[in-house]
Amino acid sequence: MLLTLRVQGARHWVKSTRCLASSAAPAKSPSSQLEVSGSTYATDGWTNVTPKILSYLGANKHLQTDHPLSIIRQRIVNYFYGAYRNQRGNPLFSVYDQMNPVVTVQQNFDNLLIPADHVSRQKSDCYYINQQHLLRAHTTAHQVELISGGLDNFLVVGEVYRREEIDSTHYPVFHQAAAVGVVTKDELLERNPGPEFFEEMWSGTLPDPKVILPSSKFMDQTKQPCHTLEAVKLMEHEMKHHVLVGLTKDLFGPRIKYRWVDTYFPFTQPSWELEIYFKDNWLEVLGCGIMRHEILQRSGVHQSIGYAFGVGLERLAMVLFDVPDIRLFWSNDSGFLSQFSEKDLHNLPKYKPISHYPQCTNDLSFWLPQDIEVDAGFSPNDFYDLVRSVAGDMVEQISLVDKFKHPKTGRSSVCFRIVYRHMERTLTQAEVNEIHKQIASASVDSFNVQIR
Ligand code: PHE
Repeated sequence: MLLTLRVQGARHWVKSTRCLASSAAPAKSPSSQLEVSGSTYATDGWTNVTPKILSYLGANKHLQTDHPLSIIRQRIVNYFYGAYRNQRGNPLFSVYDQMNPVVTVQQNFDNLLIPADHVSRQKSDCYYINQQHLLRAHTTAHQVELISGGLDNFLVVGEVYRREEIDSTHYPVFHQAAAVGVVTKDELLERNPGPEFFEEMWSGTLPDPKVILPSSKFMDQTKQPCHTLEAVKLMEHEMKHHVLVGLTKDLFGPRIKYRWVDTYFPFTQPSWELEIYFKDNWLEVLGCGIMRHEILQRSGVHQSIGYAFGVGLERLAMVLFDVPDIRLFWSNDSGFLSQFSEKDLHNLPKYKPISHYPQCTNDLSFWLPQDIEVDAGFSPNDFYDLVRSVAGDMVEQISLVDKFKHPKTGRSSVCFRIVYRHMERTLTQAEVNEIHKQIASASVDSFNVQIR
């Protein structure tokens, strides 16, 4: 089943193969060049950004006055400013909330030790501008440049782009706050005197910058070989119980129920996810861990240890304001926007649904071209992008309800169920049928399929 209840907090780094080769319908300009954020990029076989997706650049919902995502950003930033100060009383963390979302493959993946064959690099998962550039898939992409620039404690807030399924908790553009906290031995041990950071037997040699480091996936996740267990445990305690539980309680109150789940990220070791209990479900809200020491070394930091985390703003805002559908964050309807105000950040109202407009459900079945199958030449994410490009926010949900292979011809057939519902008005069946027809004919053009 494609639509599982997943949270846009942290990327699912451990997921197994999904959507292999891709035949995306790219945004090709006649000149084979794309203008993005004021720069020109040559397109190539990797290009799969659509005009629809590019239209989100610069929207900056996290900076829009009185927008719920801006309110969440301010609550997070204020928490860090308030809780962490240096000896002179100045905030310890600096905040970057306007970094260019166009990043290089090196920033988004290589710098973070994400293996070359890792699923998260696939065309079917990211929006590539060309082979070297993509719309960042996480705000962690800026980590290395900021540490190399001399920063120890910072937050990067901005929108990220991922090709994903469509449902009430997923949108191809959402917002993250990613943070790093790096401490020296003196700083950490001042609060907890005692242990060494690095194992006595560890050589401390700088990894050759040309060498691709082994993935930590198959290593012991308790700690990195270079670190002492005591240093890791102290850093883990500080990150989990001071920084992150502190933030969670600041946002949701002292009675919030939460739990830690062990996980794997290529750039932290050990790694965890934080889940909070909300409306009878455990919801993942963030990913975090102890930074891979090689990343710090390559950024010019040798004697320190660091933690990093990434948290999804929509997810927090949905819980905090009781917003039932992620598309609402993109609504310009005053009935939605007028409900939020940043005047009193600590007295936030719950969202009151404006009204419930009816859904319209239409199925679309087609034969794939000969020798093409789901996830082998045809990626459902390509179809979802096409639907978004044609129908925009009129679509509430899509699910792959059926697929089968004809025993005689060997051709594969798929059936998608598309649920149409506008956030702000009632759609007529005739209007839905018209859009549905456009989706069908765009599918024929883009994927060479045959409508059944
Ligand atoms: N970048 C991860 C994601 O987007 C979250 C994360 C950040 C995890 C930093 C660990 C450390 O899913």
